[in-house]
Amino acid sequence: MLSKDSRFARGQLKKVIAIYPGSFDPPTNGHLDLIERGSKIFDQLIVAILRNPDKGPLFSLAERRLMLESMTEGFKNVSVDTFDGLTVDYAAKVKAGAVLRGIRAISDYEYELQMALMNRKLHPELETVFMMPAEQYSYLSSRLVRELAQLGGSIKDLVPEMVEQRIKEKLDPAIKLQHAREPKKMRKRG
Ligand code: PNS
Repeated sequence: MLSKDSRFARGQLKKVIAIYPGSFDPPTNGHLDLIERGSKIFDQLIVAILRNPDKGPLFSLAERRLMLESMTEGFKNVSVDTFDGLTVDYAAKVKAGAVLRGIRAISDYEYELQMALMNRKLHPELETVFMMPAEQYSYLSSRLVRELAQLGGSIKDLVPEMVEQRIKEKLDPAIKLQHAREPKKMRKRG
C-alpha cells in the first residue's frame, strides 16, 4: 500500500536524483555509455569525481572534471561535480536517492556488492542501481587505458577523441607544445 508521502502524493511523481561516483582517471567510452543509460532512467544524474589523494592520479581533479563536462554537454539532465569523503554523505548533500554503478563482468560483482551493502548500512534510504555497459566496453577500464597508452598501444575507440588527445599530451608534453605552436589547419593535415 502507498504511504501518505509516497511518490504519488499530491498527484506528483517524485524526481529521482542519482549520483554516478568514480575516479574517472581517465573517463572512458564505457563511462560515457553508462552516463547515457543513467540519464534515461533518472531525472537528474550527477557524475561525481572522487578526490582521492592516495591514488596518485594521471589527471588532476580539475582536468577530469573538464573532460567529463565536455563529454556530457549534450545531456541536459547530467552535471559533473567533485567530492571528498564518503559517497553516502555526498549523496545526502545533493539529495540523491540512488547511486549508479556499472557492472562489466562477474569479477566486478564482489567488490560492487560489498560497496553497495556497506553504503546501505551507512544510509539505508540510498539505493544502488547497477547497469551494464554495452558489450564492447565490458573489458574496458581506466586502468587498462592508462597502461595501454603508457606502453604505446592504441586507445582509439576506448575513450572519446578529446580524452585520447589529453592522454597523449599528458604522456608526451612535447605534443602539447607542438599543438600550441602549430596553426589548426596544419594540424588537421598532419
Ligand atoms: O571508479 P572507482 O575507482 O571504481 O570508484 C570507486 C568509488 C569512488 C565509487 C569508491 O571508492 C567510493 O565510493 N569512495 C568514497 C569513499 C567511500 O564512500 N567509501 C565507502 C564505500 S564502501
